[in-house]
Amino acid sequence: MTREEFVEQFGGVFEHSPWIAERAWDHDRIDDPLTSVGVHEAMCAEFRTASRKARTEVLRAHPDLAGRLALANQLTASSRAEQAGAGLDRLTPEELERFTELNQRYMEKFGFPFIIAVRGHDKTSILEAFEERVTHSEDDEFDVACGQVERIAGFRIADMIKGDAA
Ligand code: GUN
Repeated sequence: MTREEFVEQFGGVFEHSPWIAERAWDHDRIDDPLTSVGVHEAMCAEFRTASRKARTEVLRAHPDLAGRLALANQLTASSRAEQAGAGLDRLTPEELERFTELNQRYMEKFGFPFIIAVRGHDKTSILEAFEERVTHSEDDEFDVACGQVERIAGFRIADMIKGDAA
């Protein structure tokens, strides 16, 4: 596989942040044959050693859950599938209002959107996690959000390298 092919395939695993795939390749972290665990560890190593500013930008590259972009059908394919998988494309008007209010409060407090790896969650458990996490301190929540981004990346990679679980 070439660098270009690798970045083409895995560049979107960290939302809108292909530099993570590029650096993982350039630092010779990618073994042949690809395994989902290997690719995930290589990319997480780049993410974790990036500056706080760069990691904040990765967080900020995520769309709101049940937000404006989702309503306007402007999500990446991965994000759309994840949000639909958790039922977030089928909210009642009251639930949508709850998400909108929480999205606003969370963004005002932390400066990045609420991110949760939605697999295994439904809208009720997502709202519960949302209500709890919005009470966190800034440093605690930054760490939780980065962990969730890594988890989302793991699921996306595992879906791409079939038959292999990250
Ligand atoms: N969790 C899984 N996918 C997404 C996403 O696209 N945006 C946010 N905010 N959280 C997610």
